[in-house]
Amino acid sequence: MKKINIQSKENLTGGSIIKMNENLLLPADQSATEALLLPTEEGYKIIPLRRDLKKIYIEVTTLCNFSCTTCIRNSWQDEMGMMEWATFEKLLQQLKELPNLECVHFGGFGEPMSHPRIFDMLKAVKDQGLRIEMITNGSFLNAENIEKLVKLPLDGIFISLDGPDEEEYNEIRQTDISPVVANIRPSTALKKQRKASCRSLVLSLWP
Ligand SMILES: C[S@@+](CC[C@H](N)C(=O)[O-])C[C@H]1O[C@@H](n2cnc3c(N)ncnc32)[C@H](O)[C@@H]1O
Ligand code: SF4
Repeated sequence: MKKINIQSKENLTGGSIIKMNENLLLPADQSATEALLLPTEEGYKIIPLRRDLKKIYIEVTTLCNFSCTTCIRNSWQDEMGMMEWATFEKLLQQLKELPNLECVHFGGFGEPMSHPRIFDMLKAVKDQGLRIEMITNGSFLNAENIEKLVKLPLDGIFISLDGPDEEEYNEIRQTDISPVVANIRPSTALKKQRKASCRSLVLSLWP
């Protein structure tokens, strides 16, 4: 196994996997036998590697077609970007190392449906026999895309409506709610018509 000098800044690229029982500095975690020693500018972070996860979140992009006043992205300094397909393919392989995994949620910060390969990504995970969920601002739910999601089928969708009424939504989301509402209606109608197995269509109201 690779030996690491934890005082050295030479290791400040990438992370290293270490065995839990070979390093007394590691936090006690019965379900993890390995940890990731992740170098940061401030020092090292020790992250127990748990392989018994049931659900993981994949953030395929931090970019978005909306500019909500409340969005956490407004306070970010980090460069925004789209996940490369090669990175996604690596993730697909890593999913296979999680024997208890049941569900992959496509979300985080950014608009997942703005990724040019979102449908390929959803299908690739679905093809691994996993449940797939997605959170969206609803703006890309046109008839063609709804059809594709039902066909997959997507198992759960969360549509964010950030505001208690139209006026506040428009103010917070800096856009008009009408096209989003116009998208949601046919989504639910098609789901019923096809008896699609999508378990949840949750409208997230925040704040
Ligand atoms: C960041 S968005 C990403 C997905 C998609 N763009 C959307 O709006 O649903 C995910 C969820 O986080 C919420 N959110 C955004 N900024 C937030 C903040 N500062 N605090 C709490 N929730 C926030 C949004 O309302 C949305 O429901
Ligand atoms: S739609 Fe979602 S990601 Fe985009 S700005 Fe609004 S909260 Fe942020």
